[in-house]
Amino acid sequence: MSKPIILVIDRSEFNREFVKEFLAEASVVATSSGKEGLQSLKQTIPHLILLELQLPDMDGINFLTHIQPVIKKYHIPVLVLVSRKLTRPQKIELISLGCYDFIMKPIDITELQLRVKHALEFKTYQEELERKVAEKTQELQKAYKALQKANQQLKKAHLEIINILGKVAELKDEGTGAHIIRTSKYVEIIARALGLPKEQCEILAYASPLHDIGKICIPEVILLKKGKLTDEEFEIMKLHTKMGAAILEGINIPLIKTAKEIALTHHEKWDGTGYPQGLKGTEIPLSGRIMAIADVFDALSQERAYKNAWPIEQIMNYFFENMGQHFDPQLVDIFAYHLDEFLEVRDKFKDTKTNHSELAEFLEKIKWFYQKKLCL
Ligand SMILES: [Fe+2]
Ligand SMILES: [Fe+2]
Repeated sequence: MSKPIILVIDRSEFNREFVKEFLAEASVVATSSGKEGLQSLKQTIPHLILLELQLPDMDGINFLTHIQPVIKKYHIPVLVLVSRKLTRPQKIELISLGCYDFIMKPIDITELQLRVKHALEFKTYQEELERKVAEKTQELQKAYKALQKANQQLKKAHLEIINILGKVAELKDEGTGAHIIRTSKYVEIIARALGLPKEQCEILAYASPLHDIGKICIPEVILLKKGKLTDEEFEIMKLHTKMGAAILEGINIPLIKTAKEIALTHHEKWDGTGYPQGLKGTEIPLSGRIMAIADVFDALSQERAYKNAWPIEQIMNYFFENMGQHFDPQLVDIFAYHLDEFLEVRDKFKDTKTNHSELAEFLEKIKWFYQKKLCL
């Protein structure tokens, strides 16, 4: 290990030589004035400073004030050499300026050696501590970043799974997967326009793809029937709301709780004539009221095997005629005000042909799972 560098600033040549002689294990740089001391600090950063309090060109307090940034940055202990007893305020001022300890003149060899030894040990300890703190901070930052990345991936995976499940329900219902994307966007447009917090808007948008998840429990013979459903068949079809809620039951995550709420209430109507519970007005959760608008708008604005897409004027008339009956009037106003955004989404996310045969086997497996595990 290289010798520690000690900067001595003392006007007495005798003292400077004395220090050099008795601190032979250190490399001593001796100066006789404050100015020389400052000059030396510009060239070499010492491990310790021995400072006489009464310098010829400046007093020790002034000198310490000047070198504050350097001694703080490099943790340099300063031992102040004093020839008379200091008052309490003087001591406090010196300590607050970075003085580590005091040595009375005439210098006692043993005392000098011990105080220098302790001061250098203290410096090493401080540097080691700082290094360890920096090392641990870096490790923590690294771990935090990795955790953040893992969380993001997990969140992404959760959302993908939700989308897949929504898609499964839609594909079973002869959809193409685009319905859940569009309705999710419509839900988000209304939620944002309502001024809901960003997190709530996201939860609503991400939860909405599961609104018809209960349809995986509805037999194809009813779900895919070309003609009008009989009353009995319609009663079974209506069960997809309760089935959806049952599938999503018991999962204590805000996203899934909202998805369950939407699945259960998206067919409720403002005037209380909807299903499954016949809720009225604001008894229907906001999520269900928003979903109703998004879902119906998408159904009317898309072409199906049995119908053409409705012209936009006809759709708007339908909504205005049914505000206060089927739909929350305030939400219809918001929807009408943001119609441009709805049309943008409608035009951007068009239905595409899907290879149903490729999906058939997968759907069968999923259907088996839900029917056996969740719906019986
Ligand atoms: Fe539905
Ligand atoms: Fe839907």
